[in-house]
Amino acid sequence: MDYSAFRLGERDGWSSRADVYDAATARATLQTIPMLLHNARVFPGARVLDAGCGPGYVAACARLLGADVEGIDFSEGMVRKARSLFPDIAFSVADVEELPAQDRTFDIVLSNIVLFHVTDPLRAMSEAWRVLKKDGRFVFSQWLGPDRSECYKLLFDVLGQHADMSRADPAPDAFLLSDETEVADMLQTAGFRDIRSDVVENVLHAQGPSFFDFFMNFGVRVPLILERQEPAIQASIRNEIDARAAQYWSDGSYRIPMPSIVFSGRAD
Ligand SMILES: C[S@@+](CC[C@H](N)C(=O)[O-])C[C@H]1O[C@@H](n2cnc3c(N)ncnc32)[C@H](O)[C@@H]1O
Repeated sequence: MDYSAFRLGERDGWSSRADVYDAATARATLQTIPMLLHNARVFPGARVLDAGCGPGYVAACARLLGADVEGIDFSEGMVRKARSLFPDIAFSVADVEELPAQDRTFDIVLSNIVLFHVTDPLRAMSEAWRVLKKDGRFVFSQWLGPDRSECYKLLFDVLGQHADMSRADPAPDAFLLSDETEVADMLQTAGFRDIRSDVVENVLHAQGPSFFDFFMNFGVRVPLILERQEPAIQASIRNEIDARAAQYWSDGSYRIPMPSIVFSGRAD
């Protein structure tokens, strides 16, 4: 299957969201960073790669723990943002499916909510393995799917009822990596051992008034589907999402459970 149009949509979608990241996506993704760092066992002087760094928060946290960090992202807008926020860290434009590093360079590769967006996650895992030193750790996170996430259940229930999914560009299964058994198989195939997973109970705190409008800035995968719908269908989806989200409104924001899962493996 050719996912190249999806890949371009993701890359450009993230670049156009770099300046609203803090007010949208970061309100859930940052909650996963402590578990990511805990499982990575960052140590002073560790060589760390933040793969799919976005605005660079994972890289910055690893550096606070004493690591020697660099970050890559395929979105130029995100790399520009990361450089402006953390000028002392080296960030560059590159793809997690083709890392610009020699074999056996890093002690740790971190990837926070990135493989959800890539066209070939097994290739990204194999690349992480290639650039890790022996016994190095790869730690990545992923959203749980509609079967375990109230947020994605709400969104995909409404999309399933109203959207014509065939209008979106072909894309890999968004939630394949939410399945512990699938991921353990893939990580083993990529060469990893001592595989573990930990669920993090993120709660998305979204500003109003419209949860639909918030989510159009929050993510890229769901907006890529929504942008392709007829205006009348899009309006119905907006109304339905906002009606269902109303039950989560509390004390000035929507508070919607949106758990993530953190996987880690050790390179032999
Ligand atoms: C949800 S954001 C997470 C950003 C960051 N890791 C964080 O924790 O804030 C997803 C990021 O993955 C990047 N990304 C997606 N696919 C990528 C790929 N194939 N190669 C490099 N970066 C990618 C996007 O550009 C975006 O910055």
